[in-house]
Amino acid sequence: MAKHLLSLEEFSRDELAYFVERAVQLKRERNEGMAHRQLSGRTIGLIFEKPSTRTRVSFEAAMYGLGGQVIFLSARDTQLARSEPLKDMARVMSRYVDAMVVRTFGQEVVNELAAYSTVPVINALTDLHHPCQILSDIMTIQEKKGPLHGLKIAWIGDGNNMANSWIQAAGKFGFELVLACPAGYEPDAGILARSRAEAAGQIAVIRDPELAVIGADVVNVDVWASMGQEAEQNERLKIFSSYQVNAALMARAPAECIVLHCLPAHRGEEITDEVLESAQCVAFDQAENKMHIHKAILEKFIA
Ligand code: CP
Ligand code: NVA
Repeated sequence: MAKHLLSLEEFSRDELAYFVERAVQLKRERNEGMAHRQLSGRTIGLIFEKPSTRTRVSFEAAMYGLGGQVIFLSARDTQLARSEPLKDMARVMSRYVDAMVVRTFGQEVVNELAAYSTVPVINALTDLHHPCQILSDIMTIQEKKGPLHGLKIAWIGDGNNMANSWIQAAGKFGFELVLACPAGYEPDAGILARSRAEAAGQIAVIRDPELAVIGADVVNVDVWASMGQEAEQNERLKIFSSYQVNAALMARAPAECIVLHCLPAHRGEEITDEVLESAQCVAFDQAENKMHIHKAILEKFIA
């Protein structure tokens, strides 16, 4: 298996499915009151250059829940803020911690850390990917709908980091993925081309959100302006206005269709309060499952 988790692309379907199955088991054991201590004496470093509620807390809770410990470093805490080279940071951190969990802007940052690190580097979101989130979302869909193979999953809105990781997952898991994105906001062309080759025609990028949700088992939505795109917020509000996941759009989808949002949500923008608070929406199960997935990831990469 790959030594680092930088995107889903480097992993086989079976390797990705392992994380989901193990997370299901760890969740069940936790709910039964079983204590886990397999990472006792181990330490991870969290290096976060963007804000986070769920990913940070769920990685920390996961590590403590397996008996390990965590050092959290925000952007302003390290010498990276004063331009220390990434290759030096990677080699220094490798002497102290058993893995680095990194949230940053460019994918090249995690790639370079990984190139110089002797311990695993785990991508906790970059501008290009959010691989751990998609694993917890797959776990959530599996809990509600069973195996993903043959399902239709719709992505509504920006062709962003989440969309790119979903495309890579489609290439592995063999579900139908239809992304409805405005012109100019499509997912990464290279990722799309590589995953399409793997997915045998199961990935489509279209313009019309109504067409995307017809027959969908899952509707997936995320913010219109991701972290780092705050200056584009007002322009994006206009461009994406017809991509809101609301009751009218959901009326086009089957009644048993579920709605995923990785959170944080901007109610009244990409999703209405009505849909987010509806029984169809599983956003808080997704949030919980991040912790179980992160346990499975940390255990596999460190133990
Ligand atoms: N879903 C997610 O990654 O949330 P945070 O930004 O709060 O970590
Ligand atoms: N696409 C969003 C996801 C947040 C979890 C962002 O990058 O800000």
